[in-house]
Amino acid sequence: MITKTPDVTRVTNRHRSSEATSQEDQCCGTSPTVVSCYDLLDLVFPVCGLTDLTDGMYHGDPAVSYQQAQRNQAEWLLDQVKCSANSRLLDVGCGYGRLLEAARQRGAQALGLTVSPRQVASCRQRGLDARLLDYRELDGSWDGEFDCIVANGSMEHFVQPRDAALGWQEMVYRQLFQDCHRLLDPASPSGRMVATVIHFHRFRPDPQDLLKLPCRFPMLSDRFHLALLERVMGGYYPSNDQLVRCASPHFDLVGQVDGTEDYRRTSEEWLRCVRRSFISWKTAPRLLKRLVPRLLHRPLHTSFAISLLFTASWQWQFRGADPPMRLLRLVWQHRNATLPPLHESPDDDRCHTLVGPSSFASQQFA
Ligand SMILES: C[S@@+](CC[C@H](N)C(=O)[O-])C[C@H]1O[C@@H](n2cnc3c(N)ncnc32)[C@H](O)[C@@H]1O
Repeated sequence: MITKTPDVTRVTNRHRSSEATSQEDQCCGTSPTVVSCYDLLDLVFPVCGLTDLTDGMYHGDPAVSYQQAQRNQAEWLLDQVKCSANSRLLDVGCGYGRLLEAARQRGAQALGLTVSPRQVASCRQRGLDARLLDYRELDGSWDGEFDCIVANGSMEHFVQPRDAALGWQEMVYRQLFQDCHRLLDPASPSGRMVATVIHFHRFRPDPQDLLKLPCRFPMLSDRFHLALLERVMGGYYPSNDQLVRCASPHFDLVGQVDGTEDYRRTSEEWLRCVRRSFISWKTAPRLLKRLVPRLLHRPLHTSFAISLLFTASWQWQFRGADPPMRLLRLVWQHRNATLPPLHESPDDDRCHTLVGPSSFASQQFA
């Protein structure tokens, strides 16, 4: 049973103190932009009838509906981690809980983490176990508590452009996989982890460009889209086999599927649906009622987000014959064997000294 009840009302805030002196404080915790992103999406998406925040699985079939594709994705992910009755599943970034619900239907015990209070409330209303918790806060007392882990569209938020500019991207991923490895029960018949993650594909942008205002770049250029997305969503993607490399001390890659076309279809559906909702007499008043106060409270973030309806920057990522990004679904098997030491690189050194699980996590729980 997953019985632990940590403080569920807390999300560590990245850069929470302007006087943060240690590098830990600078590179760990949830980015305020990521929290803002879901604060805003939670106001808009459910009104538009959208309760999924990542790609569905269409299997190349034009007849598959949006809802069916989302169900397909949840079932596929659960199959990959061999989720069955009594499996203990951790969903890192559970959104509105579709996967938690599908796991419950299989008789599994599923725990979801999210940085959005509204997503927690939505899941709990349906009796799902969701907690307002950054994955980095799962301390040593959670070690070995899970049979399998899913991260469906959350890893994109774990590294920020500032981290990448400082050369910390690999450190964050290595620490992530080290944490996931200790959370999994070594005796579990599953020991699997699956993630769907957007990757930089056509080029790897300079992280400094993402920190600039979009208006610094030609309208609708690659760098314009990237800077706008960063303002609204927060995050710097991995590239090529970066995750596989960072996972390798702890996990063996057992499956990889390209889902770029699936994400393109999902994203186009989102855009159509949200645009339609803004001009529908049924939904437009509700959207305005929610967005006007937010516009007054967070004018810049809200305006940038609304502009995505016109620039289609999110959709730009997956459009064209050679899209700038690609979506990979990656399946890993936990390694039970004695672990080799992490490679001796500057990144690894930081990994141990800055974000070691015991030091950082226990600090958060203290
Ligand atoms: C793109 S949404 C995907 C949600 C859900 N998996 C789905 O398919 O609809 C990303 C999710 O990751 C969560 N998230 C982002 N950063 C996180 C972190 N550091 N720890 C835990 N959850 C995080 C967000 O709150 C959100 O629920």
